[in-house]
Amino acid sequence: MEESRKGRRPSRCSQHGDLNCFALPNQGDDSTVPLQLNHVRSQFPSLQEHYDGVPAVFCDSPGGSQMPESVVMAMQEYLGRFMANTGGQFATSIATDEVVAEAHRLAADFMHCAPQEVVFGANMTNLTYLISRSVGRTLSHGDEIIVSELDHEANIAPWLQMAEERNLVVHWARIDRETCTLNLEQLRSLIGRRTRLIALGLASNFSGSVNPVAHIATWARAAGAMVYVDAVHYAPHGLLDVRALDCDFLVTSAYKHFGPHLGVLYGKERHLNRLPAYQVRAHDGSLPGKFEIGTSNFEALAGFCACIQYISSLAAGDPELLISASRRDMIVTAFGLIREHERNLMTRFLEGLRNLAGYRLYGRTAVTDRVPTFALRREGTTPRQLAVHLAERNIFAWDGNFYALAVAEALGVEQSGGVLRIGFAHYNTENEVDTVLEALDSV
Ligand SMILES: Cc1ncc(COP(=O)(O)O)c(C=O)c1O
Repeated sequence: MEESRKGRRPSRCSQHGDLNCFALPNQGDDSTVPLQLNHVRSQFPSLQEHYDGVPAVFCDSPGGSQMPESVVMAMQEYLGRFMANTGGQFATSIATDEVVAEAHRLAADFMHCAPQEVVFGANMTNLTYLISRSVGRTLSHGDEIIVSELDHEANIAPWLQMAEERNLVVHWARIDRETCTLNLEQLRSLIGRRTRLIALGLASNFSGSVNPVAHIATWARAAGAMVYVDAVHYAPHGLLDVRALDCDFLVTSAYKHFGPHLGVLYGKERHLNRLPAYQVRAHDGSLPGKFEIGTSNFEALAGFCACIQYISSLAAGDPELLISASRRDMIVTAFGLIREHERNLMTRFLEGLRNLAGYRLYGRTAVTDRVPTFALRREGTTPRQLAVHLAERNIFAWDGNFYALAVAEALGVEQSGGVLRIGFAHYNTENEVDTVLEALDSV
């Protein structure tokens, strides 16, 4: 195993040269120490595992990341020692109340908001259906919404269905087929007096493209429209900062960022207070909890706490970080380290791919404004055949459309099996990148 390369990077953020500075202004990119990759990897049981006698290369993280042992243990400990419902006067119930409160606090640190602005749910799709229903009740005939071709179905279908029920006008933000990125001029031209909501992703789970959400949010605000951000694919790779984005909602899914199956939503407090909730009569309608329906998945909340602690612990190797650093400071530093390492992985993969014959990459060919998710096709071979070829070499990767149906259709690959998706995470090594490139070369 290897350590990632050392080196302080200059700030990359020129006002218009790098769209990442619009997406998320503060990425914590100033760290001087690299990610401690050996230590990182030692914390993941699956990375020590052998499958048919061989260790696996996990390139499947866009579908769900691997989980550190501390998260597994936290869930086990909750189930074994503290199993109870909330609101009781006895020890296990009090402990459960504390798990719920701590999960809201840690999610607030993770997304940069207040604990009462956090809503937990089954997953991102459920939460988006829930919020879209509530938002829909405040909209009326002729109001307009914008959805994006680059998004996962979970940030399209709930809005389309809500729009049909409420007689709204739907506009589609289109992609540039060459770069697999949003066509920003076309998107801007859609925003008008009746625009009420723009639903878009922070990063595409198909092409890895990062959208300039903070910038688009300024257009939305000028028109009085809300912005609903799908951060599921971005969350394992970059810092979430709802204040910097100034979005109205942002949603993620913990199983994509080293946690359990749990949806996590940020909503501006004034929206969560004003929107009607589908809730039982016994609930007093206060935050947090107004949009958390029924008994929560407490073991997943315990695992979520451990997953945020795991992410912040990545900053511990940075001697420049004061002992008194806040949890948020540690998360900022941790994502600086993650991004630095992933930039190395992206550079290596993109350089290697250029030397492979017959492959087409759907997405940005440079490391800027992207995360390490790569959509590929190879002449004369189906994406399924590629995935099988990799699986035979214990390289785990997905093929298909990954529910990014609109992108696959726009690119004209839906009918022929979509693409092969190679997705790296911070626990992958440069040696693993080479292994994947060799396997792709040997098809
Ligand atoms: C970008 C993106 N958005 C939304 C979802 C849906 O998330 P969930 O599985 O939590 O419903 C996924 C899942 O793959 C995704 O990749």
